[in-house]
Amino acid sequence: MSAIQRIVIIGAGTMGHGIAQVAAACGMKAALHDVDEAAIQKGLDAVARNLQKGIDRGKVTEEQRDATLANLSGAPDLAAAAAEAQLVVEAVPENLELKRKIFGHLAEVCGADTLLASNTSSLPVGKIAEGIAHPERVVGMHFFNPVHLMALIEVVKADTTSDDAVDRAVAAGRAMGKDPIVVRDAPGFASSRLGVVLGLEAIRMVEQQVASPEDIDKAMTLGYRHPMGPLRLTDLVGLDVRLAIAEHLHRELDSEAFRPPELMRRMVAEGKLGKKSGQGFYSW
Ligand SMILES: NC(=O)c1ccc[n+]([C@@H]2O[C@H](COP(=O)([O-])OP(=O)(O)OC[C@H]3O[C@@H](n4cnc5c(N)ncnc54)[C@H](O)[C@@H]3O)[C@@H](O)[C@H]2O)c1
Repeated sequence: MSAIQRIVIIGAGTMGHGIAQVAAACGMKAALHDVDEAAIQKGLDAVARNLQKGIDRGKVTEEQRDATLANLSGAPDLAAAAAEAQLVVEAVPENLELKRKIFGHLAEVCGADTLLASNTSSLPVGKIAEGIAHPERVVGMHFFNPVHLMALIEVVKADTTSDDAVDRAVAAGRAMGKDPIVVRDAPGFASSRLGVVLGLEAIRMVEQQVASPEDIDKAMTLGYRHPMGPLRLTDLVGLDVRLAIAEHLHRELDSEAFRPPELMRRMVAEGKLGKKSGQGFYSW
């Protein structure tokens, strides 16, 4: 199993720039691509800011910052960069058709043994790989936000994914300082399926006036040592984002546990989306 020397990240947004940062920090040559050239520069600037914050907090040395930035570059020409990479991680918006188009293109420009990974949080990895040459090297590498701070990576194995691809994705995740879990390509993988069900039940408890949002959250932070309660977390993720995931899982898993509560629908309709709108279960 050869280590990854060159990685390309497609999509320089919230997740893409973070993935580029952790790859560059562990010594990989990381090339960041985006359809929008301005977004590439924005992504590179965001990495530089993250590293500066790390220095200010005493978590990153100036040498580490310099080494990370030296490993990082923008890649306006995707085909040229991807042809040289051992790993390509896609982090474009959560849209199946868009991702399928990108993987179709990658299959044409990359070598047959280049590992192709999607950072999708909910789409079936098997569907993303469908119809392309060598689908056995397509795997999910689901990072968490903010990538440079969150320890988990979920490696998703589709029915078509080879064991070798899973092993390489796990090794790459470890090299980037992450602690991998391997999950079958089932709706919601492991993280979203468990996290969302807890959030939905907490909302039902608010609906039924079991306790205040603060106290329901406290039950989990103090009683179960969760770093954050399920309602505060729902506010941070965005009620609209979680509603979409809940609808998807309710459909796919055919389980009442994922039926979105009326209160959640009402809050989304009223624009109470959580932190990003200033109001959710908490005022921000
Ligand atoms: N935001 C999160 O907390 C989070 C967490 C885990 C996984 N994810 C997943 O990561 C992926 C990316 O999410 P994000 O929040 O970083 O999105 P984002 O909107 O912040 O960034 C997406 C970037 O992709 C670029 N893009 C669009 N079409 C493109 C194309 N054809 N080629 C190249 N670049 C293109 C956009 O210009 C944008 O810069 C999604 O699949 C999402 O579900 C997100």
